[in-house]
Amino acid sequence: MKLTDKQKQFVEELLNKMTLEEKVGQLNQDSPSIVGGFDVPFEELIEMVTDGRMSQEEFGKIMATAERDFHEDDIRAGMVGSVMGNDPIKANELQKIAVEETRLGIPLLMGFDVIHGLRSVYPIAIAEAGTFDDDLMERTAKMAAKESRAYGINWNFAPMLDVARDSRWGRVSEGPGEDPFLGSRFARAKIKGLQNNTESTADYVAACTKHYVAYSACEAGRDYNTTSMSTSQLYNVYLPAFKAAMEEGACSAMASFNDLNGVPCTVNSYTLRDILKGEFGLEGFVVSDANGIRECVTHGIAEDDADAGIKAINAGLDMDMGTRIFYNHIAQAVKDGKVSMETLDDAVRRILRVKVWLGLFENPYVPQEVIDMYSKVLPKEHVDLCEEAAEKSIVILKNEGSLLPLKKTSKITLVGELADRADEVVGAWSLGWEASDCVSVKAGFEAAGVDFEYYPVCGPEGDLNADELKAAIETETDIVVAVVGEYKSMSGEASSKADITLPGHQQEMLKKLVAAGKKVVAVLMNGRPLALGWESEQLPAIVEGWHLGIQMGTALTKVLFGEVNPSGKLSSTFSSVNGQEPLYYNHPATGRPGSKSKFTSKYLDAPVEPCFPFGYGLSYTTFEYSNLKLEEDSEGIAAVFTLKNIGDVAGTEVAQIYMQDVTASLVRPVKELKGYERVTLAAGESKEVRIALRKCDMGFYDNQGKYVCEDGLFRIYVGGNSRDLLKDEVRVKF
Ligand code: NOJ
Repeated sequence: MKLTDKQKQFVEELLNKMTLEEKVGQLNQDSPSIVGGFDVPFEELIEMVTDGRMSQEEFGKIMATAERDFHEDDIRAGMVGSVMGNDPIKANELQKIAVEETRLGIPLLMGFDVIHGLRSVYPIAIAEAGTFDDDLMERTAKMAAKESRAYGINWNFAPMLDVARDSRWGRVSEGPGEDPFLGSRFARAKIKGLQNNTESTADYVAACTKHYVAYSACEAGRDYNTTSMSTSQLYNVYLPAFKAAMEEGACSAMASFNDLNGVPCTVNSYTLRDILKGEFGLEGFVVSDANGIRECVTHGIAEDDADAGIKAINAGLDMDMGTRIFYNHIAQAVKDGKVSMETLDDAVRRILRVKVWLGLFENPYVPQEVIDMYSKVLPKEHVDLCEEAAEKSIVILKNEGSLLPLKKTSKITLVGELADRADEVVGAWSLGWEASDCVSVKAGFEAAGVDFEYYPVCGPEGDLNADELKAAIETETDIVVAVVGEYKSMSGEASSKADITLPGHQQEMLKKLVAAGKKVVAVLMNGRPLALGWESEQLPAIVEGWHLGIQMGTALTKVLFGEVNPSGKLSSTFSSVNGQEPLYYNHPATGRPGSKSKFTSKYLDAPVEPCFPFGYGLSYTTFEYSNLKLEEDSEGIAAVFTLKNIGDVAGTEVAQIYMQDVTASLVRPVKELKGYERVTLAAGESKEVRIALRKCDMGFYDNQGKYVCEDGLFRIYVGGNSRDLLKDEVRVKF
């Protein structure tokens, strides 16, 4: 976000004209309330969903038809700085009130959760990060930005940058996986895609990086749980993606719900003022997460709403999502001297700067022709991009005896309720999809003319249908494609799980099919890495399909039948059994690495190794790495190696470089990803690949939060995943 001097001047002049109440109004992020139409009060309705008396589906139906109160009078009175929503007609109406009917005509920030696409839903972030394709990640964000603007949204609550190492946490689905380096590249790509196309206001939005910070480190992977860690861990693992986003000029950040070392991130001046605004130079603003300020009372950090609001704004939180605590209490707090006018002005200035940068004062409305366009079919280029992203996100985990690709002429038995659930392909946090755009696996098979019979048999919940299973077993073909995994509601917010094996009776279905002599290809449709010990041993082929978005069925069909040679890799480690979590490749080196011998770091009843390591993914061809050489110059080191496609078909490999600092003053990870490159090779082709590692990127943060580069020995690895690697060593002097 870069403002001209003239734009900054405009903001200062506006600020000078504002009353105390108008200033506080800018800090208020409002959501429409639901009115009328229920037999019980709205709060009771929420309780009913929470305690299971009402299903999410029923609640969704009520919400879709319920009337909403957008608090137009409050907007008119200058009490609102931002509104949540994705209806372009409503957005135009509300902007008109803000622009034409308030004293100063300040437009609204229209915020919304556009996490992995709005109507054009592309793969969930954990899947997309596994493409290791920065250009693709930028293009999907660019598409999301354009679509958002068309729906009246100018501020996206994305990217979600929580590096997550515990797959029990449901929100692993929303972020870029377990690695801070990959997370940082993801962050840069997303900020560029969302924010950099500033020539037309139709093409860019303000990004909101979240959840700041260390939300994913919640104890035992249980959402909203407490978080505690050393300064070096915070800086080395959880902050890098946010730092990268700030370097790209991200406009805003969302404070996370968790406490960090005892201080809730909503009222944490160390993380907000010192690090984010100070060290990382955020020029825009920080918003709380929904209800976050009030939750500081529940945390036992604030006495009441007013106290929480004062603590939050003084700590550097600029906008209040959803509680009106700022609006109700900050003006009085300024009068009482509990919040300084400088603090208030700083918060308002940051918000106004984002509004000016977005061009909202000149172009607050969505043109009618754009609204009309998106109310019809999706632009072809959006559908194509969703398909490309889905294809590149698919990871082949196992392919014994080259069972895959399947032949289109073979007869296939398709099983699994999820295969026919077009509404499930979009995954968690998709709020703008339309059923007519979504392609299930079954629909993908039909469109491609695959010869198959379909039996749902069972899904992630509910019973196994014995008749359908019997019928599936009795089909004349040996090849079964079983689409199994999780419903989209099983990952995302508030969806932590203690058991991350295949839910319901799905494994039982697989076991019976295997016992009947079928060759089972498991196609996973899930939001988190699952514990796949049994499946990885007993099934000949496993395809990780995640929740791939609207083109899931098309993409999977092309991969299963060999029209597309897959190149996706895992952005997160997969466990074999539940108890291995949290499991991640880049863990600090213990003095007793897990091994067969007794007194080492391991569980007696679980494997030491993961089921599938970070960076892993097969292709329909084979890549061979050889001739690793390290070249050193004043800038750093380059790993130079030969990559050869030794198979029969062309393919793309994600070549990866890892490093271990062997002689550091703090225990460092056994390996850290330091670079990657997608390399496409024809059958038989080889190429010399060079991946550079700058010396300035070989250091780490110490426990004072200081970045240090220490002379000594470094191991450098290259390969196609974090486990199977070539190795060399180098002594580095900084
Ligand atoms: C709560 C979630 O934690 C956050 O990710 C989201 O952006 C906000 N609610 C707004 O919907």
